[in-house]
Amino acid sequence: MSLQLRVYVPDHPLVKHWLAIARDKNTPTPLFKTAMKELGKWLTYEASRYWLPTLEAAVETPVAPAPVTLIHPQAEIVAIPILRAGLSLLEGAQEAITTNSVYHLGYKRNEETLKPSCYLNNLPEEFSEETRVLLLDPMLATGGTIMAAMAEIIKRGVNPANVRIVATVAAPPALKALSETYEGLQVYTAIIDQELNEQGYIVPGLGDAGDRTFGTN
Ligand code: URA
Repeated sequence: MSLQLRVYVPDHPLVKHWLAIARDKNTPTPLFKTAMKELGKWLTYEASRYWLPTLEAAVETPVAPAPVTLIHPQAEIVAIPILRAGLSLLEGAQEAITTNSVYHLGYKRNEETLKPSCYLNNLPEEFSEETRVLLLDPMLATGGTIMAAMAEIIKRGVNPANVRIVATVAAPPALKALSETYEGLQVYTAIIDQELNEQGYIVPGLGDAGDRTFGTN
């Protein structure tokens, strides 16, 4: 398998539909939240393919024995939403897969420097190298936040090849930064937009994902 960054944009009508709802500036907050939940669900569904460890077993149906495949009971699967906006993807992600734990990382963007500063980190001191991490951040723009979050996770022992980033909109600066640093990482996003504006917002993007999720501005 190639060790390059892989970016998947699922060609699925449900992903396209909910992205359209999320992009529309006239979408009210409750429907925006639904759109992000749905995107979290379907993108996590795609991201979990070939990623969840499985176990071959056998069960008895009411009729006969049958070979089955189960999610491995000892699999360590954690979700890490990046606050605030990553919370919008968490509920849907957890409809798609069962996680052992949810750890929170909170970053706030300094609107002048555009640099992220961490205000919450409840990650454990160490993860096992086998831990699968679902990292939730809807907007991969300059890459500052996702790179800071990745650094915190990787320094605690996670293998980048076991990380799946689920985003809603991704832009080239963030994807470039990730690809230059992390071999084998995989990103799942509903769309790749080409541009950022002077404020670091993705164009056309969907605006401020945190504000739109929580009805603030
Ligand atoms: N964060 C957002 O919420 N939106 C953007 O366009 C970029 C970063």
